[in-house]
Amino acid sequence: MPVVTLTINDKLVSARSERTILEAARDAGFEIPTLCHLEGLTPRGGCRLCVVEVEGSPRLFASCVTQVQEGMVVRTDTERLQNYRKMMVELLLAERNHICAVCVMNGHCELQSLAAKLGVDHVRYDYLCPDLPVDASHERNTKDPNRCILCGRCIRVCDEVEGAHCLDMMGRGIHCNVITGMNQEWGKSRSCTSCGKCVEVCPTGALFKKGMSAAEMEKHKDFLIWILDGRDKKVWHWTR
Ligand code: FES
Repeated sequence: MPVVTLTINDKLVSARSERTILEAARDAGFEIPTLCHLEGLTPRGGCRLCVVEVEGSPRLFASCVTQVQEGMVVRTDTERLQNYRKMMVELLLAERNHICAVCVMNGHCELQSLAAKLGVDHVRYDYLCPDLPVDASHERNTKDPNRCILCGRCIRVCDEVEGAHCLDMMGRGIHCNVITGMNQEWGKSRSCTSCGKCVEVCPTGALFKKGMSAAEMEKHKDFLIWILDGRDKKVWHWTR
């Protein structure tokens, strides 16, 4: 596997040629915010939070889906990038109803933490305030599309790890939604195995377990690497 050398934030970094900029940057100790990306799932490049600048190009690159190249010069934390990321989070907050005070994920939400980290103290865009129906038909879990950021993690984990493909995306643009089965109620979808993986990887309160208070509703994504590692190496050591 060829190894390439690139520069990230003035630091010389070596990485295998199939690695992404995000992986190389994180290996080198640089933090890049992500929402749709989750280690163990196929990268999607949907949220654009992980954008970086690459010298010689005026456009921004989603680092989770851009492979490293020999001689690349990358910057991960310029003022332009910070402004762009802030704008992306504001747009997400404006698109649906992210009212943290009445959300079960308050205090454990990735979107909320990211907004705080990026200094989003207000939203400059008009709130769209859609009124989307909540699906509480499943015996264990609830789907609240009003909190969904359409990152697609739930869909990918259901398809790639559980192998059920119960969840999918329907519609376009502002009418885009995560559906269960053939756009049936979750509780009636026969392809759902009730494994709960989708709930654990959801970054917001769009998917949550029933009967949990805000204080209890912590999600655990570390099961993903454990499962994938176990399948790969046939070794099953639970370390949590
Ligand atoms: Fe790269 Fe979402 S994390 S686009």
